[in-house]
Amino acid sequence: MSTYKEVKRVTTHVLQAMKARNEKISMLTAYDYSMARILDAAGVDILLVGDSASNVMAGHETTLPITLDQMIYHASSVIRAVKRALVVVDLPFGSYQGNSRKALSSAIRIMKESGAHSVKLEGGEEIKDSIKRILSAGVPVMGHLGLTPQSIYKFGTYTVRAKEEAEAEKLIKDAKFLEKIGCFGIVLEKIPAQLAKQVAETVKIPIIGIGAGKFTDGQVLVTHDLLGITKDFQPRFLRRYLELFEEIKGAVETYISDVKSQDFPSNKEQY
Ligand code: KIV
Repeated sequence: MSTYKEVKRVTTHVLQAMKARNEKISMLTAYDYSMARILDAAGVDILLVGDSASNVMAGHETTLPITLDQMIYHASSVIRAVKRALVVVDLPFGSYQGNSRKALSSAIRIMKESGAHSVKLEGGEEIKDSIKRILSAGVPVMGHLGLTPQSIYKFGTYTVRAKEEAEAEKLIKDAKFLEKIGCFGIVLEKIPAQLAKQVAETVKIPIIGIGAGKFTDGQVLVTHDLLGITKDFQPRFLRRYLELFEEIKGAVETYISDVKSQDFPSNKEQY
């Protein structure tokens, strides 16, 4: 068994080196201590404390309602579990758009109060002041382009983005811009695979895709989708590795029946 000191931590520099030697990067979401412990022990490279916690943990329809305090609570739970992975935390809706001072103060609260390693912001050139100010404080920033769920009411749907030339061109321009100002990586969500390939080949920083095809430098999924806990979400890009909703439901049904029949607890399970 490896001790804390023997584990080589994943840093933004490690991710850059992985891209350079063409080693794919694995990234998953985590919102709590117990799950983060399992994912980190399995060897995932990046853990994202995503604002998808708003949907997955709290049952909201969108990512908009989650607050900065709630993100800090999730991030600090994850950080306590992690020995190896790089932890990225989403700045939630309303904590960085249109006000770079507020953006910096939100990022600093996340870093100080949770102990996280970096933050992620949705958008390109339109949020440049916020990104630059956060970077100037020495906080690593990951970008997020393509489908950006915090703008769902602008898009109107969760369908594939940047299929039209103008939007694809803006996305490439934004990716180059994020690289130029110093972001350490970019998440590309739900865009055509060939466009994601072009971005990954154009910029030198790691490009992590979700629903963006096989040519990116790494992949990210929402852990609860991969494990089949979120039962009704079935997009084409999702591969389910377990059907935990049914498995957990079955186990709980057996427990209920054991309690009712007085099979549980047995003589051996009491003091
Ligand atoms: O919040 C989240 O889970 C994300 C991923 C979909 C990349 O941003």
